Amino acid sequence: MNYTSIKEIDSLKKWVKEALKIKKNPLKNKKLGKNKTLVMLFFNSSLRTRLSTQKAAINLGMNVMVMNFGSEGWTLEYEDGTIMNQGASEHIKEAAEVVSQYADIIAIRAFAGLVDKEKDNAETVMNGFLKYATVPILNMESATGHPLQSLADAITMEENKTKHRPKVVLSWAPHPRALPQAVPNSFVEMMQLQTEMDFVITHPEGYELNPEITKDSKIEYDQDKAFENADFIYAKNWSNYKEYGKITNSDPNWTITANKMKLTNNAKFMHCLPVRRNVIVTDEVIDSENSIVIQQANNRTYSAQLVLQKILKKVA
Ligand code: CP
Repeated sequence: MNYTSIKEIDSLKKWVKEALKIKKNPLKNKKLGKNKTLVMLFFNSSLRTRLSTQKAAINLGMNVMVMNFGSEGWTLEYEDGTIMNQGASEHIKEAAEVVSQYADIIAIRAFAGLVDKEKDNAETVMNGFLKYATVPILNMESATGHPLQSLADAITMEENKTKHRPKVVLSWAPHPRALPQAVPNSFVEMMQLQTEMDFVITHPEGYELNPEITKDSKIEYDQDKAFENADFIYAKNWSNYKEYGKITNSDPNWTITANKMKLTNNAKFMHCLPVRRNVIVTDEVIDSENSIVIQQANNRTYSAQLVLQKILKKVA
């Protein structure tokens, strides 16, 4: 069993329930991971993913090895049949097979480069490991998805919903740097698995996510209108998908402010973090009692623990 996309979940409702059970008693399965090793490979920076996934593995009694592959590993070649006389020192084939001998599960973080859309959509790093590794693969944020984050988001919404059919709004917000679409992609895919929530995406015109992911999810270009009666506001920046990886809008009117939150049904504020204060969201909103970003980050542990637990039960 791999976990590379939130779409691999058979029943989101069931998984969220199981994660909440783990949260109540996180050390219950302390023996499940005994003598099993999680190898975590980071091609990009992380705070939450690194520590929460490690914490989850420790809760399950696993050994954990972490490598900052991006700065410390050999540069990898992903194409088959290449004459490797340029920059890459090692082929993914050997690297993945070798790491598999040290690991029972390999977790990988490898962001989009945001230069070549086709290459990013091909998920070169994740798919390279999936092809050549001989142990299960866990996605800790790839070029196009962040399924551990969106599972944590689902857990957090379940804990905070106050009515049967809450309205959830994914809102684009400005950012000075070009960011990948992985988090909003997985959030959209997770919302498509929700059967008892209304979902709206709001962003400036031209900032549409990959239509193969958004499918028939509702898009409202008027942010104020989208916020009306919302129960959850999920803020996130992403760079332009059509003009791939570019920043074509940095309008501060899209920043989440207290006045915008007044349009909602006393909505909870969510963001995956890290967040740029007073760019994405004002201090007033993120510091308000409606902000659940810290709880959201805490739930990353239980999202990872649930997935690791399921994989361990399969490989046992
Ligand atoms: N939300 C998230 O994945 O945080 P990190 O990038 O710090 O891991």
